Amino acid sequence: MTPGRLLISQTQIQARVRQLGRVLTKHYRGERPLFLGVMNGALFFLADLLRAVDLDSEVTCVRLASYTGTESTGKLRGLEAMGDSFKGRHVLIVDDIFDTGLTLSGVIQRLRELGAADVKVCVLLQKKKGQMPVKVDWIGFKIPDEFVVGYGLDYNGRYRGLKQIRVMEKQAV
Ligand code: IMP
Ligand code: MG
Repeated sequence: MTPGRLLISQTQIQARVRQLGRVLTKHYRGERPLFLGVMNGALFFLADLLRAVDLDSEVTCVRLASYTGTESTGKLRGLEAMGDSFKGRHVLIVDDIFDTGLTLSGVIQRLRELGAADVKVCVLLQKKKGQMPVKVDWIGFKIPDEFVVGYGLDYNGRYRGLKQIRVMEKQAV
């Protein structure tokens, strides 16, 4: 498997992040939102989005993983790492991709338990087949149901640093 077909270019990503930044700036005007990045996939999206908003925001991260290779394992790890104070906060979960929704529904539930006043979700990508009833408030791009890498997204830890989003493809023989 190797990164192949270009799905979203660096220019397209940058333009969309700037747009989302403007929308979020309007939405959170007067609030001090807490951006919660889901590591490691949200690494670049979180960093770029934070700098695209004109807000008095805060940022923290949580580390979760439900994937092995290109398959979702259905298991969430790392939620206990959320030691920050979320009580009464307006939290914006920032994630790389909404696939089955397992990751996000787990995080949302945990934030509610921890007393967050408001929880919203912003993802860079959404695959066409969302299986769980999670409301995603802002989506960068809707993509076909293919395994993608780049701009934070990995295949077994590799290719996160690619500047574009590419589809993983079987290597030509
Ligand atoms: P979900 O819990 O099934 O929604 O999966 C969400 C997480 O799985 C994402 O935050 C990613 O880290 C990872 N993931 C899902 N699809 C892809 C993909 O196509 N490429 C890389 N990572 C993915
Ligand atoms: Mg992720």
